[in-house]
Amino acid sequence: MVEVSEKLDVKQEIPIYDDAIVQKFAIATLLFAILGMFFGVYIAAELAFPVLNFDLPWISFGRLRPLHTNAVIFAFGGNLLFAAVYYSVQRTCRVRLFSDFLSNFTFWGWQLVIVLAAISLPLGYTQGKEYAELEWPIDILIALVWVAFAINFFGTLAIRKEKHIYVANWFYMSLIITVAILHIFNSMVIPVSFMKSYSVYAGLQDAMVQWWYGHNAVGFFLTAGFLGVMYYFMPKQAQRPVYSYRLSIIHFWALIFVYVWAGPHHLLYTALPEWTQTLGMTFSLILLAPSWGGMINGLFTLKGAWDKLRTDPIIKFMFVAVSFYGMSTFEGPMMSIRTVNSLSHYTDWTVGHVHSGALGWVAMISIGALYYMFPRVFGKSKMYSTNLINVHFWMSTIGVVLYIAAMWISGVMQGLMWRAVNPDGTLTYTFAQTVAAMHPYYVIRLLGGIVYLSGMLLMAYNVYKTITMREETVPVKV
Ligand code: HEM
Ligand code: HEM
Repeated sequence: MVEVSEKLDVKQEIPIYDDAIVQKFAIATLLFAILGMFFGVYIAAELAFPVLNFDLPWISFGRLRPLHTNAVIFAFGGNLLFAAVYYSVQRTCRVRLFSDFLSNFTFWGWQLVIVLAAISLPLGYTQGKEYAELEWPIDILIALVWVAFAINFFGTLAIRKEKHIYVANWFYMSLIITVAILHIFNSMVIPVSFMKSYSVYAGLQDAMVQWWYGHNAVGFFLTAGFLGVMYYFMPKQAQRPVYSYRLSIIHFWALIFVYVWAGPHHLLYTALPEWTQTLGMTFSLILLAPSWGGMINGLFTLKGAWDKLRTDPIIKFMFVAVSFYGMSTFEGPMMSIRTVNSLSHYTDWTVGHVHSGALGWVAMISIGALYYMFPRVFGKSKMYSTNLINVHFWMSTIGVVLYIAAMWISGVMQGLMWRAVNPDGTLTYTFAQTVAAMHPYYVIRLLGGIVYLSGMLLMAYNVYKTITMREETVPVKV
């Protein structure tokens, strides 16, 4: 345990750890969580009450939806990953980040990407590939920032003063390497003008590469990276060692080996060769094992500290996050089974699955990590109000449950209504009837979103009060 004031490199007279960069990324994370979720709430409202499109193309559902997905995944999720990686790699390697210049380059470069996305998407510039919509000049900028991130991260590992490379860093390594490969190969295009390009892949190959990218964006950006976050912050907050170090190594190698083959489960019942679909389905089913290895390791890290679940709302966030990780990684393999997918595909069931991973797992582990980091990087002993964290926890939990329960019911109902046929072979329901049946569930989802978003606003207030609060002594432990 080291006092903040002791964290000085005597020779260079600069703090050993660069927490200023973590401060910036953490604030950006909170800001974009609120903005990204606001867009989520708005598009949820548009689906329930289409009049909210106001006949304006740039705020229509079709344009705001990719703005929402990009904002939550890359602006909220991405900034959190930068903050958490920079915070924990310094501590696990016991050195300052490799390069202050690269740290700042990654911060400003990433924010520039976000601003360019926020301008270009509503204007209608898109490559039309889900989660890879941004046009080619922005893609080049993303690649540059990511390479700078890689150099900064691996440079820090190279100069580390701790012989052992902690398991969180293994997950970060897989995040950085795989996302670079995915982004570069999926973004290969022939530009025809400043903001228009065509993919170098044609037809089916294009779809195959896109979903190899899409699925692994989930696997490495939204899963491996956040597992790294879990492996650092959960033991820290619980003040317990990781349940099983051996399990963490086994499930790491199994997870990264299996994930990369599962992409074709997004293309079941398409022109993709049958064997490729079966391969994707099989690997998706196998993926349950390493995923649950991670879940078990996370949950059992609380062994001997279960009482903290009653008293520590940050641990509650982390515990529920890991539980949602377990649930969504059980549901995913089930949805990869071809016969199940024939019901779930194109329906709200998929959207429910996405948000049990996104709001349940990704957002809640992020919120836990942010509550851990904020007081520490701003030199405070604790968050301003633990009660507010508790209220936030319940708002997030109620919000996500309302969201996913509504989508599950609506999704299964939608799928069943679409396939219902009369004895004479005609469809029982018209498409418009299925849309009308979904309306109440869309309103419930909207409500869930509003509750979740309100929790984030509460967090912003708590963080603001933490940063501005005056303390006599600053006994921050790192
Ligand atoms: C207040 C919180 C949120 C609300 C109200 C919300 C709402 C929505 C809505 C209405 C859609 C469109 C669904 C459709 O096309 O039928 C959507 C899609 C999506 N959202 Fe969210 N969202 C929220 C938070 C998040 C977060 C935190 C993430 C990720 C970390 C996320 C990731 C996604 C993704 C990946 C999709 C696309 C799903 C698909 O293609 O199946 N959302 N969201
Ligand atoms: C073992 C783990 C998982 C497996 C096998 C899996 C499998 C699946 C399947 C089969 C689909 C539906 C594909 C379709 O019908 O089009 C899907 C969609 C999706 N999943 Fe998962 N899932 C897993 C975990 C997760 C997690 C943890 C998250 C989020 C953090 C997530 C995010 C998504 C997203 C964003 C989509 C929607 C993709 C789209 O835009 O169509 N998945 N997943």
